[in-house]
Amino acid sequence: MFRKLHEAGGNAVTIYIDGAAVMAEAGESVAAVLLRQQPLWSRTTPISESRRAPYCMMGVCFDCLAKVDGEASVQTCLRQVTDGMRVERQQGKRSVGA
Ligand code: FES
Repeated sequence: MFRKLHEAGGNAVTIYIDGAAVMAEAGESVAAVLLRQQPLWSRTTPISESRRAPYCMMGVCFDCLAKVDGEASVQTCLRQVTDGMRVERQQGKRSVGA
């Protein structure tokens, strides 16, 4: 598990991961916050449903996909946190139109 080297201070925001309130720092990526959580994972694969976690942190691997504010398959390494953001770990296949 990862941890921040400094406190967010005045830049602190609250996001919700699977309904749990989590402190984050304005400007950091959702994936960075997910890497500090236990259990450490962001999505499951569509076939075997094995867990995956953010890996490349630059939009290449797609292992950081999650549902953000109702939008499925968001690359969380490319999305900055905003206060009140709701993140859900993504499980299995994404349904069309969801
Ligand atoms: S961590 Fe690889 S695409 Fe987001």
